[in-house]
Amino acid sequence: MQFIYKCVTLEAIQQTINNKNAKENDKMKELKIAGINCTALAKSCGTPLYVYDEEKIEEQLNTYMKHFKSERFDTEVLYASKAFLCKAMIEKVVEAGASLDVVSGGELYIAHQSGMPMDKVFFHGNNKSDEELELAFELGCKTIVLDNVLETQKVIRIAENLGQSVDVMLRINPGIKAHTHEYIVTAHIDSKFGISAQRQEEIASLVKEAEQSKHVNFKGFHSHIGSQITEMEAFEKEIELLVDFVVDMEKKHNIKTSYLNIGGGFGIKYLAKDKTVPAQRVCSVLIQKCEESFAQAGINIERVMIEPGRSIVGEAGYLLYTVGYQKETQNKHYLFVDGGMSDNIRPALYQAEYGCDLANKMDVAKSKTYCIAGKACESGDIVIQETKLPEAAEGDLLVLYSAGAYGYAMANNYNKINRPAVVFAKNGKARTVVKRESYEDLIRLDINEPVE
Ligand code: LLP
Repeated sequence: MQFIYKCVTLEAIQQTINNKNAKENDKMKELKIAGINCTALAKSCGTPLYVYDEEKIEEQLNTYMKHFKSERFDTEVLYASKAFLCKAMIEKVVEAGASLDVVSGGELYIAHQSGMPMDKVFFHGNNKSDEELELAFELGCKTIVLDNVLETQKVIRIAENLGQSVDVMLRINPGIKAHTHEYIVTAHIDSKFGISAQRQEEIASLVKEAEQSKHVNFKGFHSHIGSQITEMEAFEKEIELLVDFVVDMEKKHNIKTSYLNIGGGFGIKYLAKDKTVPAQRVCSVLIQKCEESFAQAGINIERVMIEPGRSIVGEAGYLLYTVGYQKETQNKHYLFVDGGMSDNIRPALYQAEYGCDLANKMDVAKSKTYCIAGKACESGDIVIQETKLPEAAEGDLLVLYSAGAYGYAMANNYNKINRPAVVFAKNGKARTVVKRESYEDLIRLDINEPVE
């Protein structure tokens, strides 16, 4: 081995120490995402800006792919694209080898345009139109998840008319009320989704109708109990109910279930106090519960699926705003930001809470209490009701954490505010994956044409 001795002066050593300290200070002062300063991102791309740490998305996808595995049955992980969808996101899904859940013609179209293998696409939704169903057949979407009686009959008709085969699963509602916001619960007894698991006769005759068609292959049942659920007991209960249901279908109605999709809904950490279950543990609990319950019930399920959305992209996403004016009222000190309910409607819609920081003042003590408000003409456009931050000034950069799910996905043009850009960041490099809307975009669809 060869050693090379360098002549180092004291000054050089001091310089190295200074550089190191400067770097550490910089790290403390400024928030970085994937090695990039937030202020640099804001300067190049403007705000409001969604920034995703690509590695965090990859990590979550790979964790689900690696750990949702069993020796007793096949498994499949579907990314629920409603949480966040664009071409670059589909590329991540394809790279990880995951499948996809879509719920509209639009999501289906984007999946197809982005190179998603269509035999890995599952088409959900409670009111798919004829046009959407026909598009699904045309694009070769392999599986349609049926929601109700009329839809089942329609899909049978379309498959027969086209002479084209399709796999179907039927969404059932096991009737579980998990602890989450009432709008995001999807399996309480009067939910609009699926058919109640109690209506066994109705379900059995529907499955038989599907099985009679030579173009429709009935594969099994789907259920999804809600979103942002942090207690694994709710999912364990769901699996117990599904297994009882499958047993009844087999014993009482002679219906064989090959596939079982237990849905998504795994909660993420929005606030420091939130208690969540890491993806790996989610997988092990679900797999173990399925293995035990199937064995106990003596049923043989070929494939089990899950379809997480939020937990794949939520914590990977950051939302950057620039601070504008401030205002004192009798009980509040408002801090206004350059976006709000148009780029993230979740606080206004669900009273969703987020953690935040001033990304350019990470080393300053949080000495003031602010109410952070958006710029929309709507009193309910409050981003965060009350939070402590360093003394803020116009031009500071506010960062919202865990903003990656159902943020950009639900963005809108209220007040004709342009929807923000989306950036993916990895290893100190960033790329824009969705452009910021321009003013021209806002009138792109406006026309003056007579209606025939
Ligand atoms: N599968 C089905 C059938 C679903 O309806 C959903 C979400 C998912 C999977 C994915 O659930 P996740 O893993 O993302 O929790 N906009 C609301 C959330 C609505 C969720 C709708 N369905 C929010 O911002 O909280």
